[in-house]
Amino acid sequence: MPSISGVSIGQIKLWLRERVSPKLYAHSLRVMQQSQKIADDLDLNFDKAAIGGLLHDSAKELPGERQVELAEEFGIERDFTDNIVQEDLHARVGAFLVRRDLEIEDPEILAAIWCHTFGPSGIDEIIPNKGKQIEIRQGKIHLAVMVGDDTEPERAPKAIKKIEKALRKRGLEEAALKTLDLKLFKILDKGYFIHPLHLEARNNLLFELKENNKEES
Ligand SMILES: [Fe+2]
Repeated sequence: MPSISGVSIGQIKLWLRERVSPKLYAHSLRVMQQSQKIADDLDLNFDKAAIGGLLHDSAKELPGERQVELAEEFGIERDFTDNIVQEDLHARVGAFLVRRDLEIEDPEILAAIWCHTFGPSGIDEIIPNKGKQIEIRQGKIHLAVMVGDDTEPERAPKAIKKIEKALRKRGLEEAALKTLDLKLFKILDKGYFIHPLHLEARNNLLFELKENNKEES
């Protein structure tokens, strides 16, 4: 059974159970399993993926105003759209909440929670230590949880198929890019705001993939 920073998976589950609805708790367990499976297939740290997956939505059901209050308290940099679409803060607020309440300091787990909606952007904000920033940049746990969140079995089958195809044929980074693209299509279709962190993460991932392809060819 995984444990991290001296906190057991049982304690983490109890903490989460008190904070989310049974429906979101069940989703969190499925994302835990799916992230674990991806990590296992790719030889990544199994326990970190499991805990990141389990905790990714810790702040999701907090009322929007409370999320803004907590973002203020934690010193999270906000875009103006965060004050309008307040629930978009839940990933970033969740990472700080987990660090404060569960005393989990592992940078890869915190990055996984932080990144799960908009992708890997702005994550330096949560880890002030430079050495750990490098650890996040090189790590892949946050990508495994992003993909795990969007391919858990209760997600739309069509989207799962597209992301899993990218994962199988082109790897984890491409699958993560696919999750960001599918979310963008939805946002555009509904006429919602696009968060700058979403665009930044999407462009960075695309840039890295193109650079890697150049090196390989
Ligand atoms: Fe989720």
